[in-house]
Amino acid sequence: MCGIVGIVSHSPVAPLIVDALKRLEYRGYDSAGVATIEHGALARRRAEGKLVNLENRLKAEPLDGTIGIGHTRWATHGVPNETNAHPHFSDGVAIVHNGIIENFAELRTELERDGYTFSSQTDTEVVAHLISRELKSGATPVEAAHNTLKRLQGAFALAIMFKGDEDMIVGARNGPPLAVGHGEGEMFLGSDAIALAPFTNSITYLEDGDWAVVRHNNIAIFDMDGNKVERKRQKSIGTAYLVDKGNHRHFMEKEIHEQPEVISHTLAHYLDFTKSAAKPLDLPFDFARIERLAISACGTAYLAGLIGKYWFERYARLPVDIDIASEFRYREMPLSANDAALFISQSGETADTLASLRYCRSQGMTIGAVVNTRESTIAREADVTLPLLAGPEIGVASTKAFTCQLSVMASLAVRAAVARGTVSAEEEKALVRALSETPRYANQVLKTLDGQIETLARDLAHYRHVLYLGRDTSYPLALEGALKLKEISYIHAEGYAAGELKHGPIALIDENMPVIVIAPHDRIFEKTVSNMQEVAARGGKIILITDAKGAAQSTVKTMRTIVLPDMPEIITPIVYALPIQMLAYFTAVFMGTDVDQPRNLAKSVTVE
Ligand code: F6R
Repeated sequence: MCGIVGIVSHSPVAPLIVDALKRLEYRGYDSAGVATIEHGALARRRAEGKLVNLENRLKAEPLDGTIGIGHTRWATHGVPNETNAHPHFSDGVAIVHNGIIENFAELRTELERDGYTFSSQTDTEVVAHLISRELKSGATPVEAAHNTLKRLQGAFALAIMFKGDEDMIVGARNGPPLAVGHGEGEMFLGSDAIALAPFTNSITYLEDGDWAVVRHNNIAIFDMDGNKVERKRQKSIGTAYLVDKGNHRHFMEKEIHEQPEVISHTLAHYLDFTKSAAKPLDLPFDFARIERLAISACGTAYLAGLIGKYWFERYARLPVDIDIASEFRYREMPLSANDAALFISQSGETADTLASLRYCRSQGMTIGAVVNTRESTIAREADVTLPLLAGPEIGVASTKAFTCQLSVMASLAVRAAVARGTVSAEEEKALVRALSETPRYANQVLKTLDGQIETLARDLAHYRHVLYLGRDTSYPLALEGALKLKEISYIHAEGYAAGELKHGPIALIDENMPVIVIAPHDRIFEKTVSNMQEVAARGGKIILITDAKGAAQSTVKTMRTIVLPDMPEIITPIVYALPIQMLAYFTAVFMGTDVDQPRNLAKSVTVE
């Protein structure tokens, strides 16, 4: 889940590589490095921690080479220190790697037997040594790379450079994405098109098993058998401008505040507000004919899918099988070729989600990708892309992508309900009108609740454990609240279905355990009130997030009550996501954590 770059040029490449790595920092940020060829010899600069450390290193000790490779790391094998940072060298070979070499232990033993010593704990170093051993036994650099690739098992994207050859980088892809960028007398390699956007918008995506020889004036792509293959060259829509924080302290704060606008763009893509109707969609499957819908995703995107399940089942009477992708991919679920599957992903590159997609493909299903990154692998492998119009999401904790995923799910559920005849024309109008109100309510929440939530967060920052409860669509939201809080504030948090409390978690309740209850005044509000009573009776501190009706009717003493406006039921999960995100955000700010790049995480998870 690292980011890799390679550039073959006629002018110094180190500053360009750093620029490209900045665009890839979302893939990992625990160390970074650049290698170039300086006067025929390999040279590198590496630094532990954020990219800025590498930049400072390069200022102090510049590199002038006109060919180079670079890397930003999310550690898989070996702690994040300078020694484990890429590029790795072995006798005239320099290499950067994204992914996992699964047979690295066996290869390492074999190389150690041949006298190779390892300076890092990474799986990557075996690849460098294997190539250098091939060179020693007389292979040309291209043969050495190809012979080595054939020995590797696992998921990887690689860029390889050879001492003394200032006209060649070899790239390879098996799993994680790798794009080749075409320039004028210079060529590029990068983990995605956005990394290469300042240099070129003419891109070729390598397919799994492809490897490429990239030179100043030519790019040749081969399959694993060594046959030359043709891959489509396409125009990338990646923007050359790096997104900035505007006047916000963090990207996460900015992205929370962008939600009214991006939700509105996303909804308008699927709904016709003038006619108050779901727009007809050009889908490769018919909602009226399918018997079940499969949904899979990871993390926050999975929780958007879980809320989608409630909507598809409630409004369209369409049964949904949903599972987190890391389970879905291996559990050999029986699926019907007559049915459709949706995969939800902000990045469109999440390895487990992609593997689940491929499993459904192997079962003959029709595939839809609900993605934010339209050029991603998941989008490219789907039969239809159902875009989120969230714009680039930089904060590692997903905010606006989540509410846009929800906006797509709600719109599709209405579309499915119309197709299946489970809502009347009047009900369709009412649902679409309700959804069209989402941006307005979201705006109101941001404008009116900021101060209250900041004060609440100041209190919450003193606790070590927090419980979130909710029923119906507020249950996945409780899971999302807990996920968001733990990932950026490092406070331990768990989410539960409120009705499940008495089956175990209630044992945790005491005065040191704040319980955040998400409970709009819906059809089962009273049930949630009973669960709050159970918490209150045991000395638990309740923070209730509800609406005006709920606040008026709740009989339970709370530590604090956050009151949202009354709103139509279908939009509550979208609008209630905002106070939950804000609470996590302000708590993290009080805790002093790195909000946009929390420890141990990465924005795009391309390893399983
Ligand atoms: C949490 C978060 C993650 C992602 C998950 C899936 O805030 O962002 O849980 O939702 O890693 O990522 P995508 O949506 O890129 O597939």
